[in-house]
Amino acid sequence: MANEKNHDEREFNFTANDFARVRKLIYKHAGISLSEAKSDMVYSRIGRRLRTTGYDSFKSYLDNLEGQNDPAEWEAFTNALTTNLTSFFREEHHFPILAEHLAKLKAPIRIWCSAASTGEEPYTIAMTACEAFGTMKPPVEIIATDIDTNVLATAARGVYPYERVSKLSDARRRQFFQRGTGAQEGSVRVRNDLRSLITFQQLNLLDEQWALKEPFDVIFCRNVMIYFDKPTQSKILSHFVPLMKPHALLFAGHSENFLYVSNAFHLRGKTVYELSGGKSAKQVATHAGEQIV
Ligand SMILES: C[S@@+](CC[C@H](N)C(=O)[O-])C[C@H]1O[C@@H](n2cnc3c(N)ncnc32)[C@H](O)[C@@H]1O
Repeated sequence: MANEKNHDEREFNFTANDFARVRKLIYKHAGISLSEAKSDMVYSRIGRRLRTTGYDSFKSYLDNLEGQNDPAEWEAFTNALTTNLTSFFREEHHFPILAEHLAKLKAPIRIWCSAASTGEEPYTIAMTACEAFGTMKPPVEIIATDIDTNVLATAARGVYPYERVSKLSDARRRQFFQRGTGAQEGSVRVRNDLRSLITFQQLNLLDEQWALKEPFDVIFCRNVMIYFDKPTQSKILSHFVPLMKPHALLFAGHSENFLYVSNAFHLRGKTVYELSGGKSAKQVATHAGEQIV
């Protein structure tokens, strides 16, 4: 059996118990439910950590992770197990809805992009705001968060291989990106005006408290709930409610349906939600510690 032979030839011993431990730890720490099918992925990604840190077995690496309070290794362990697939204008149908919503609002408009990955999503939100208001200085504040500190560093840098923007129109590429020259040939950099609309911050959606004060006009939570089980999804959605202004919109990923996990929301369009009735502005203000006008 070819597969088993491959496993025999592995550099590190990786038992069913090691895999079960990894699944338990990442679930507890980040809410991520890894399926049985992810064993090879775990071996390959955590195997890299073993090589970097010098452990010779999964067991000793995991014993250390659980035994020592080493925030840096927990961060690296978490970063290794997230899946960060994203793109500019992913699920494009959301952005005309966002533009229309923004145009109706008064400054300052606050938007939270809660699983920002390498930044394509918050930059797309920022581009949409610029287009909606016809200026590179639209009245929006975008907070882009993710649990994974590596992807956030890429996002904050705002430099991408040219292929990442090759499907954007020429007009968008010219308005929002600078082409690299010399050593930067083949890459593009997000223009400073666009980047200055966004604040990047690490945030674990699983945490009981989020370091976010303001109520939001828009929350993007796309393609991250699929990694969580229903109780976790439900808990996160209930944390969103007090952070949303009464008219706020919540954008979900294409395969995520929040109607099954929460009755706080109803569908406003394809994978776009708004709060169901019964939540007053006063409630929002009390929870978010800020006055609503
Ligand atoms: C597949 S990407 C989705 C990116 C983007 N929202 C999109 O739809 O293109 C999922 C992101 O969720 C992040 N993530 C996973 N667990 C998280 C958690 N507990 N808290 C915050 N972000 C998390 C991952 O690091 C990853 O960057």
